[in-house]
Amino acid sequence: MRTSTYTVDTSRLDGVLEQPVFRAVEAEAAARGWAAFAIGGYVRDVLIGRKSKDIDFVVEGDGIEFAEAVAKRMNVGPVHVFRNFGTAMFMVGAEQIEFVGARKESYSRNSRKPEVKPGTIQDDQERRDFTINALAISLNPGSSGALVDPFGGILDLDKGLIRTPLDPDITFSDDPLRMIRAIRFATQLGFVIDPPTFDAIKRNAYRLEIISAERIHTELNKIIATPKPSMGFILLRESGLLQQFFPEFVELSGAEEKHGIGHKDNFYHTLQVLDNVCEKSNDLWLRWGAILHDIAKPKTKRFEVGHGWTFHGHEDKGARMVPAIFRRLKLPLDEQMRYVQKLVALHLRPIALTKEEVTDSAVRRLLFDAGDDIDALMILCRADITSKNEKKKERYLRNYEVVIQKLKEVEEKDRVRNFQPPITGQDIMLAFGIEPCKLIGDIKSVIKDAILDGVINNDREQAWQLMLDTGRKLGSEPVAGMERPVPSNEKGAGAGTGSLIED
Ligand code: CTP
Repeated sequence: MRTSTYTVDTSRLDGVLEQPVFRAVEAEAAARGWAAFAIGGYVRDVLIGRKSKDIDFVVEGDGIEFAEAVAKRMNVGPVHVFRNFGTAMFMVGAEQIEFVGARKESYSRNSRKPEVKPGTIQDDQERRDFTINALAISLNPGSSGALVDPFGGILDLDKGLIRTPLDPDITFSDDPLRMIRAIRFATQLGFVIDPPTFDAIKRNAYRLEIISAERIHTELNKIIATPKPSMGFILLRESGLLQQFFPEFVELSGAEEKHGIGHKDNFYHTLQVLDNVCEKSNDLWLRWGAILHDIAKPKTKRFEVGHGWTFHGHEDKGARMVPAIFRRLKLPLDEQMRYVQKLVALHLRPIALTKEEVTDSAVRRLLFDAGDDIDALMILCRADITSKNEKKKERYLRNYEVVIQKLKEVEEKDRVRNFQPPITGQDIMLAFGIEPCKLIGDIKSVIKDAILDGVINNDREQAWQLMLDTGRKLGSEPVAGMERPVPSNEKGAGAGTGSLIED
């Protein structure tokens, strides 16, 4: 069965050989009498006409010495040498060119550190992850430009098949990360994993335990960056890999039924939301927001007689679960994580707005809480409408449009999306002649609420008056001459810094 959407065309190799770096490798190999080959992802991508970036070369000899000679021949540099790995690389324009000596590798069971011995091109190819990644182009006199394909990689490329060159138990034992890579390539290229290879992934999934979280999340993020990551996640769960590093996601699986009332399978729902988001945005962290938006549903699930299934508070609990998941996967814990938390925490708010009559005040509060992330939040919320009931779906989408319209109107009028307090702490200290104290926070908070609730406009004049009234109510008299707003010399007053979010 042919499943690949790519067409393999070996004539694409012709142009490749004309590139200066290929010519230089060919010449250097001939001069030394060493066998040299281009290999790996670059060869694969050229054959299927996919954009490729880095070029890897293998030589039967010392890869570092060879890289230095080629760089000299081309008059480029510097050459970066990684002695531990026996590799060296240099840049030609924006292209990264890497060299390694052909080797035989054998790995011990409990570490990724291989024992490396010099080997032939065939040794090197059989130690690679998949047949489609083991394809090599000869750069040697008499055979230059010929494909070296001992494992039928070209046929697999044509069929759209991910298959290991050796017994998959050996290939995966050499580096268990390759199990996720199999799924990553299948998702990226739209390929199928050969059943014996997939069975081996199931058998060896537990061995992922020796792989660092960084390597795992790098592959996972590549799956998430594809146009339809659901395919990758389904394979990750089916193979047992997902359970190893992201059990919370697996727990979303299943649809329970009680008294004839069921709930949706939140694993598939989440994947649908993720794919929907991917149609609208390439933002990796928004995609993570989709993955995690319902993550606390299993933990908050209740069956309430008269109400059916409820998941009260899953948005807040979900937001609180994000740091532990990010920490375990060694994902960034700063700005990006806070953004994901915010998306999870707020994901019900826009649609909740449509349940009652949409008030300006509720819209203003949403704009204030979401800030500049409002557009991403709205993409997530729209993606979250996955009902199979077309009538319901239409109604939700209509409501969503009403909220969008209202958001636009309120933002134009009140400018709360990037809300800056019209009165700063400095103003309050000056007006009441006081040092930093709790009163300042209390007054700022009253002003913020009054603006968000529409009691006063977002302007300095009205906010100043409210500041005086509130101060008096709380027992402080303004300093003489402070009844009228003083000119704002603070960056934070009305524009700039000093966001009330910090309150
Ligand atoms: N490789 C391997 N086992 C790994 C990682 C890499 O055998 N665990 C080999 C494969 O032959 C692969 C090559 O090293 O083609 C380069 O690896 P990498 O750059 O990670 O993959 P590419 O195939 O180039 O794909 P991409 O650039 O999309 O990551």
